[in-house]
Amino acid sequence: MAQPFFVTTPIYYVNDVPHIGHSYTTVVADVLARWRRLWGDDVVFLTGTDEHGLKVQRAAEERGVTPLEWADQTSERFRETWKLLDITNTDFIRTTEPRHRVGVQQFLQRVYDNGDIELDTYEGLYCVACELYYTEADLVDGSCPIHGTPVDRVTEENYFFRLSRYEGRLLEHYTAHPEAIEPAGKRSEVLGLIKQGLLDFSVSRTSITWGIPLPWDPEHVTYVWFDALVNYCTAVGYGSDPERFARFWPVDYHLIGKDILRQHAVYWPAMLMAAGEAPPRHVFAHGFLLVGGEKMSKTRMNQIAPADLVAEFGVDGFRYHFIADQRFGPDGDFSYEAMVARYNSDLANNFGNLASRVLNMATNYVGGTTPDAREDGTLVESSRAALDGLRDCLDQLDFSGGFGAVWQLIKDANAYIEDRQPWVLHKAGDAATTAAVLGDCLEALRIVALLASPVIPHAAAELWRRLGLDGAPEDQRLPGAAAWGSADTEGNRLEKGASLFPRIDRP
Ligand code: ME8
Ligand code: MG
Repeated sequence: MAQPFFVTTPIYYVNDVPHIGHSYTTVVADVLARWRRLWGDDVVFLTGTDEHGLKVQRAAEERGVTPLEWADQTSERFRETWKLLDITNTDFIRTTEPRHRVGVQQFLQRVYDNGDIELDTYEGLYCVACELYYTEADLVDGSCPIHGTPVDRVTEENYFFRLSRYEGRLLEHYTAHPEAIEPAGKRSEVLGLIKQGLLDFSVSRTSITWGIPLPWDPEHVTYVWFDALVNYCTAVGYGSDPERFARFWPVDYHLIGKDILRQHAVYWPAMLMAAGEAPPRHVFAHGFLLVGGEKMSKTRMNQIAPADLVAEFGVDGFRYHFIADQRFGPDGDFSYEAMVARYNSDLANNFGNLASRVLNMATNYVGGTTPDAREDGTLVESSRAALDGLRDCLDQLDFSGGFGAVWQLIKDANAYIEDRQPWVLHKAGDAATTAAVLGDCLEALRIVALLASPVIPHAAAELWRRLGLDGAPEDQRLPGAAAWGSADTEGNRLEKGASLFPRIDRP
């Protein structure tokens, strides 16, 4: 039976429209989901929208619509964007859905019954943009450390989650499972936070109405972060389908940006422990995409809409950039010039040229069908190295390294062509060697199409078709399908076709 594999993105706030920052996490999650499917896993790939809380209530008020009307509109924008980017999420959860509400209430009740939610009075410094309380020590120049905006001093009688009781258990958990927070720098940060001491946090609000009522005291609505985090459980059946929940929980990967590390690596595992559930297997917090060295924000007007880049680079070009040009982990500067340069060198030149050269030569020298001969030369080893490198790197979520290994195979194949010079062999009338050399090239191309398919699904599928192969790359299963000579390709009808990645020439 197929292995379950569960990967998530954050559920995005509906007060914003999708920009390349949201797309970054989502594209990476999609590549991971496609990759695991190639290995035959039963993948749940979850994304969605975070629709409750003060921030959304205020955004709706400003526009004179109800919070739900506002959420309906913006949630749809996220769905459209993921469709545009060919994201293969298997679910899209909205926190306003009944399945979510029911699950959150059950989760809260469990924690309440276990004695870790209690009524108390609280005074704190609240950042509405983060929907988070801070202590004086957290602030930077008296303002929110993330947004640099003033915080509100708030006093409320609220229900509190006794996070402070979980310091020891969290430290124990992360000592036993160092892989649970990645990369390592983020793990140290989290351990530091826990060791400083954890404060209980309020899980309810009476000051707002836009949220999920507490089951035992419906005057209170659930704090938006408590509500939001539980989406990861409710989407796989918590509170509605216990069997499904048991199959997919604990989650394999929560992919998040570093801005929400505290909530995912401190609050969330403690909440799960309090509800009697296992903590996530891995939380991976990546860095931020900066534009001109600065954080993207609505106020700075430096947000970039994915559709604008897709219009110019295509879906594959867009996806490839975020996988190859940004290391998954550190902050990275988004630059249009770098995107053009990378597209031209890796996609137009390396990938595109290899495909058109090989298909052209095969058309001109061996009658446009895959020969039954091969040299079984250096590309055999290169292909194996590509699969091994890709697997080793993706096991660590090193996407640029992993697809770098696939692009090495492309470079090796181009070098092999230079070395063997099929045009010389053909001219000399050596039909047997010409066919064998092209046999190797076509086999390498098949493996390239397969291994590159998680990141450039359109071009990979088109190349697959031009190679006369059955089905699509995504129907293949690893590792078998990537083995040299594993497919029956002899006599396949080849098709030259137009350039897969036309060069982008900027004035
Ligand atoms: O925090 N670079 O939602 P959010 C890289 N609703 N990634 C970026 C980015 C950037 N410049 N900007 C945004 C929330 N992101 C909560 C989450 S989860 C239970 C609740 C990505 O709309 C990155 O993944 O503010 C970041 O963590 C997320 O968007 C924040 O999305
Ligand atoms: Mg945010």
